[in-house]
Amino acid sequence: MDGMTDEQLVEHIARGGMVEGPERASEGYREALSKLLIGVADSEFWGLAHYYEAIKDAPTINAYMAGVALLQDELGHAAIAYRLLRDIGVDTEYLIYQRPASQLRHPYFFDIPMNTWAEFAVATGLLDRAGFHLLGDIYEGTSYAPWKRALAKVHREEGFHMRLGERWMARLGETDEGREQVQRAIDWMFVMGLEFFGQPDQRKRNVGQLNYRLRSKPNDQIRQGWLADVVPMIEKLGYQVPAHFDAEKRGYVIDCPFPVDFDETAKRWRFEDGPVGWDRVLERWKRRGPGVQFCMDQVRAGYRELRAAA
Ligand SMILES: [Fe+2]
Ligand SMILES: [Fe+2]
Repeated sequence: MDGMTDEQLVEHIARGGMVEGPERASEGYREALSKLLIGVADSEFWGLAHYYEAIKDAPTINAYMAGVALLQDELGHAAIAYRLLRDIGVDTEYLIYQRPASQLRHPYFFDIPMNTWAEFAVATGLLDRAGFHLLGDIYEGTSYAPWKRALAKVHREEGFHMRLGERWMARLGETDEGREQVQRAIDWMFVMGLEFFGQPDQRKRNVGQLNYRLRSKPNDQIRQGWLADVVPMIEKLGYQVPAHFDAEKRGYVIDCPFPVDFDETAKRWRFEDGPVGWDRVLERWKRRGPGVQFCMDQVRAGYRELRAAA
């Protein structure tokens, strides 16, 4: 299959063919792949400093160890994704240590500081679950064979993470104080989960990613899959969530204004102002969130010291 034109490659993929390595890909394929991989690698990586702050609030030593083990998994996931990027010729040292904040590609959620174990539980119960659905689609459908092989491990671990979060959401709910903390975290993180999957398909379709079958389902469909999973889970544990299944529409509908402005200081959505346009959301995403510098400093401090010493 070497020496295929881009058109032949797209046909090969449409027939169910795989791309076994970077040397088998076209320029267009590599470009679309690196864009998607950077988004995934960044999502595994840049929020970890905030996760760690929340883990420090763990109620028991066992909980703390489970949290740290989860962080170690995430670092492994990031290492896999950045390694795949290096193999297609991307300068990952630049991506990790030099890139300006404006070019980071992870969801806005990971820029919001977290401080409590309840936030950690809900972040893993809701947002790792979002990652599970997104990566699950890539794992099942991607045409890029090296990634598919690597995701077997990653996908399984994301499954552990979301179940750990779910277990703690249940356990914290046994006291009034814990229940209130979890509900408060759901209140801001559920809408972050909705945003996690990007703009609606009618505004933006990632044609390149779908044509090359780097992943298989459009955003809206993956978002629906996440809703069908997360809404019953939240309700089963006795918490409130602003979404419900609509039998006529055969899908989940959202019962709060969306998209909507976020108050970064109070960590709450400004539902009282009503829905806003997606352009406004994109501006917020581009500005990045209040905790992005903290994460960059945590990652880059040692690198800077070493460079200065050398
Ligand atoms: Fe991960
Ligand atoms: Fe995870």
